[in-house]
Amino acid sequence: MNEKQRMQSQQVQAEKPADKKSEKDYSKYFQAVYVPPSLKDAKKRGKEEVKYEKDFAIPEEFRGMGEGKRFYIRTYGCQMNEHDTEVMAGIFMALGYEACESVQEADVILLNTCAIRENAENKVFGELGHLKPLKLEKPDLLIGVCGCMSQEESVVNRILAKHHFVDMIFGTHNIHRLPQILNEAYMSKEMVIEVWSKEGDVIENLPKVRKGQTKAWVNIMYGCDKFCTYCIVPYTRGKERSRRPEEIIQEVRHLASQGYKEITLLGQNVNAYGKDFTDLDYRLGDLMDEIRKIDIPRVRFTTSHPRDFDDHLIEVLAKGGNLVDHIHLPVQSGSTDILKIMARKYTREHYLELVRKIKAAIPNVSLTTDIIVGYPNETEEQFEETISLYKEVGFDAAYTFIYSPREGTPAAKMKDNVPLEIKKDRLQRLNAIVNEFSAQKMKEYAGKVVEVLVEGESKNNPEVLAGYTTKNKLVNFKAPKSVIGQVVKVKITETRTWSLNGEWVEEAAAVKVD
Ligand code: SAH
Ligand code: SF4
Ligand code: F3S
Repeated sequence: MNEKQRMQSQQVQAEKPADKKSEKDYSKYFQAVYVPPSLKDAKKRGKEEVKYEKDFAIPEEFRGMGEGKRFYIRTYGCQMNEHDTEVMAGIFMALGYEACESVQEADVILLNTCAIRENAENKVFGELGHLKPLKLEKPDLLIGVCGCMSQEESVVNRILAKHHFVDMIFGTHNIHRLPQILNEAYMSKEMVIEVWSKEGDVIENLPKVRKGQTKAWVNIMYGCDKFCTYCIVPYTRGKERSRRPEEIIQEVRHLASQGYKEITLLGQNVNAYGKDFTDLDYRLGDLMDEIRKIDIPRVRFTTSHPRDFDDHLIEVLAKGGNLVDHIHLPVQSGSTDILKIMARKYTREHYLELVRKIKAAIPNVSLTTDIIVGYPNETEEQFEETISLYKEVGFDAAYTFIYSPREGTPAAKMKDNVPLEIKKDRLQRLNAIVNEFSAQKMKEYAGKVVEVLVEGESKNNPEVLAGYTTKNKLVNFKAPKSVIGQVVKVKITETRTWSLNGEWVEEAAAVKVD
């Protein structure tokens, strides 16, 4: 289906969005584009082949649209969203807009949203509340909502009902249509809504304005087909589509030649990379094996799913070089029963076996993870299995969350007998262990010299520089600003729970080599 056909078919649906009586039929209020989301459609996984669109270009008629205007994008959520923001910033700049530092200065404001947990969504609705007076003051201001929340009909309906001043809503699959959407928003008095519930094609050559000059994100695949029972991502990001290896390698080479020092390969489930190729037998291990030969100091990837983490990948990672000795490997729970209800498709034992293999191949590896506590009906014993797994693996760090029901996912329909107080208590107990392990790991660095990729001034103190080790430990130290963007050696003098302080030791390494 090409873009036009898809739009047409979705517009036909849009004319009759209210198949449930309780839902208001908003379409009659719209003369502008009205293509609302449907989680039901987003759940489908069709067999159609993914199209690779290589010749993205800003249409002639929109060039110069942003002359004399400024844009501001506020980003919520994961690295995928951060990177989408870089693409949208690239499109804005190509249209002639300028970036600005605050919502007050902006002529167009976009909220690039995240739907992963309720509190992520609440932040966005809070921000919309703050923006309302600004819109009243400056009626020509355009306000848009994009990203994962836009893919949910409940969100779009809430914006329609309570936040009329929003000018445009678009989703994750059509950010390349930003010029057309902006144009519609300028022309129309109504809210422009264009959300595709079926994933788009893979579009190459989109313009990008990257946030830094040291580290860069590189998409290797889009979407997720895992459908963990709690998770909204397969609905908001569509089916798994891999970029072609040659496109990825070319992008990484280009970044290396521009002087970037670190790249992070991005996907919701990077271990599924290549599964969707019909003409190629090429997986993440193969890709990493190519990328390790490119002259760029550090290569990371995120996020891994334990289920598809194969032996070939472990073998390649063990070759080291620019492939860093840090793997983020979300486990979610230490209880096989809970993992089963989560549909993670691995057991506690399988996870521990995978960790054993990784540690055997990469002895000094640092492992971090994601954990959800308080899953529906999680028992005290099952929670304790998570604690015991944490200790057994000896993670360096973890992102920990209380389970948040997401409308439309299977888990949201499960009855839950765990009171919120218990969930909060479990989170606190888990976090105490996470902190203890992190502090312990940090202590091992006392007196040692580490290599730090210097990112810039520390957030808390402009006198101090900050950067990360290959294992992603934050290091603060004093050195001239000229070392920003370089890999330097730092001797650790003080260890904290979440960071290290040290002294810059090697001047030779700090001399900038162009
Ligand atoms: N694709 C990645 C994770 C994406 S979301 C992966 O599979 O690992 C990041 C983390 O948010 C998840 O690992 C999970 O721990 C958490 N998360 C996702 N859905 C959640 C929900 N409904 N409630 C609480 N935490 C959730
Ligand atoms: Fe969500 Fe699971 Fe996919 Fe990760 S693998 S994005 S947790 S469905
Ligand atoms: Fe959030 Fe969407 Fe990322 S839901 S975590 S921004 S994929």
